[in-house]
Amino acid sequence: MHMHKLEKIWLIIGVGTLVVFLTIIGVGAFAHGNEPPSDLTILDPQKVDETPPFNEPGLKKIGENEYELILIAQAFSFFPNDVKIPKGATVHIKVTSKDVVHGLQIVGTNVNMMVTPGHVNSLTYSFKEPGNYLILCNEYCGVGHQAMSTTIEVTE
Ligand code: CUA
Repeated sequence: MHMHKLEKIWLIIGVGTLVVFLTIIGVGAFAHGNEPPSDLTILDPQKVDETPPFNEPGLKKIGENEYELILIAQAFSFFPNDVKIPKGATVHIKVTSKDVVHGLQIVGTNVNMMVTPGHVNSLTYSFKEPGNYLILCNEYCGVGHQAMSTTIEVTE
């Protein structure tokens, strides 16, 4: 079959553009792994209680005005539920799930994370104002989803 030269050039340009486009999309998808970017550490959801740092949940001081907040989500609660955090401290939140996908949203802040089993989801935050902060699950996780919440207290 004979093809005009110009037709051939356009075909090459067309296919070339498509390849470049798909490559960009492909690389983009792979770079993010199709998961929240914080999900880089993996663990066995069956062994959360014995896997550091989740074997010692709660607030842990790790430096001058710097803390690690280790939380565990499971249907339908967050653990531990009596956390007190000094205001202004840098808090590295690390959370995982023992069962299904949950969400962790701290009302009145921009903290909004996905909590996926098998992953350590992390985020750093500093509470500027003292008071009680409501933590909600914002991913539908079952019949108790609506009731899945806890509060943390930020102290002066
Ligand atoms: Cu946990 Cu919704």
